[in-house]
Amino acid sequence: MNVSEITEAVRRRYQQAAVSPAGLFAYPVGRASVASLGYRPDLAARIPASVVDRFLGVGNPFSMGEPLPGWNVVDIGCGCGFDTQTAAYHVGPTGTVVGVDVSLEMLAAARVGLLESGLGNVDLREGPAEKLPVDSGWADLVISNGVLNLATCKPSAFAEIARVLKPGGRLQAADLILVGELPADLLDDEFVWSN
Ligand SMILES: C[S@@+](CC[C@H](N)C(=O)[O-])C[C@H]1O[C@@H](n2cnc3c(N)ncnc32)[C@H](O)[C@@H]1O
Repeated sequence: MNVSEITEAVRRRYQQAAVSPAGLFAYPVGRASVASLGYRPDLAARIPASVVDRFLGVGNPFSMGEPLPGWNVVDIGCGCGFDTQTAAYHVGPTGTVVGVDVSLEMLAAARVGLLESGLGNVDLREGPAEKLPVDSGWADLVISNGVLNLATCKPSAFAEIARVLKPGGRLQAADLILVGELPADLLDDEFVWSN
């Protein structure tokens, strides 16, 4: 598959997932996954069901450390916003969380979830990991969950993370990591490239 085919496959998959992720992923998603990944139950309980049910992360970026009150956080590939909202509770009213995603459908669902929770310290923006719509040196913390594996230009995505972080800022990412070459019969499999 070429880059534009992969980009289209990713858009199609998350357009569907924004409606319902049931049966679309090879790993656990939604509420059961949130419970098993060690997210703080007190914060998860404050996040609307529509958001929890569409959680598509592969790990828990907060297991590496919790954002502090007042921090600026960027959530790359925020999806429906479970990690975005979790970060927003951590940073509190003096902090800000920017959720970025390429999928308009995911962002629309995230906006509904945000209205439900009433959080006022979150800004959702359309854009790719490879060209983040965030000012240079703005973020104390960048989080990302199940997204960088989907970025078609990983060097650009990591350069963008470095650009938006303050000096000494942190990246806390959970992701799928390839530990060997993909078998040849999977190289043209749209499911593999967009999962
Ligand atoms: C596996 S989901 C994870 C969503 C969210 N992080 C979560 O934990 O529920 C991947 C998300 O990344 C988005 N995405 C895919 N490629 C992207 C890219 N190049 N830049 C930004 N977002 C991207 C998808 O639209 C989707 O919302």
